[in-house]
Amino acid sequence: MKHLISPLDLSVTELDEILTLAEEIIEEPKKYSNVCNGKKIATLFYEPSTRTRLSFEAAMLNLGGSVLGFSSADSSSASKGESVADTIRVISSYADICAMRHPKEGAPQVAANYSSIPVINAGDGGHNHPTQTLTDLLTIKNLKGRLDTLTVGFCGDLKFGRTVHSLINALVRYENINFVLISPEELKIPDYLRKEVIEENHIPYKEVKVLDQVMPELDILYMTRVQKERFFNEEDYIRLKDSFILDGKKMELAKEDMLVMHPLPRVNEIATEVDKDKRAVYFKQAEYGVYVRMALIMKLLEVAGC
Ligand code: CP
Repeated sequence: MKHLISPLDLSVTELDEILTLAEEIIEEPKKYSNVCNGKKIATLFYEPSTRTRLSFEAAMLNLGGSVLGFSSADSSSASKGESVADTIRVISSYADICAMRHPKEGAPQVAANYSSIPVINAGDGGHNHPTQTLTDLLTIKNLKGRLDTLTVGFCGDLKFGRTVHSLINALVRYENINFVLISPEELKIPDYLRKEVIEENHIPYKEVKVLDQVMPELDILYMTRVQKERFFNEEDYIRLKDSFILDGKKMELAKEDMLVMHPLPRVNEIATEVDKDKRAVYFKQAEYGVYVRMALIMKLLEVAGC
């Protein structure tokens, strides 16, 4: 039984296979429209989501399968005190595969320990978001043409941003990667990630507090929202929420072929005037999320021919 809990659960070869399959799906979607006939995905979302939940559901429907699930803890028996372990034991007899989002770090791993179907981590607290990482890698590969030899700037809430943590874990496995970590002091990446992932893999990096000065160096600027839901007090959130706002003036400092990515949702860290810039690819990125989740479902369900 294969689960996807951390981006490191997939070898680089497996990652490349999923990205290649996603590209084949983009080329010829009809070819895959019945490959999951009779299969069901359960989307168990204990935290809000638009893209991840609906793209998983769209992915399974595109493959000819069906969906069931819940979109908040309040509308499930978690509100009556049911454990994740008990829930997944039951869901294992209702569905063939499940995607779980949970505010507690490690909850999808607990589910995997008790599950008899593949469990996909759809975001656990401030920890990991491996399917966003697959989406991000597909976006970079398709729009940049490579996954190596890149200077990647991560900007915003690097402390709580699980999409940043997952993507850093994945990118350190490729050649000639540099990181520029742009955040206020209070929202720097966690020490474990800096020491055990970036430094142990000998990835060149710098930490800065001003976006303008590093814009000309970047091949990719990965913007993130300040994660209001992870703050312990409102005052800190209000003080930090507008630390970085990407606008047209800042974009003038960037390379002609730099990509602006964002996992979305955005609040106001990217001015809407940037949307029309051809380098702004965050809506395309969200679209790629469907294809890469189609490929992942096929791989985990071991659909013939994938
Ligand atoms: N990128 C992402 O995880 O978006 P949602 O929170 O809308 O799922």
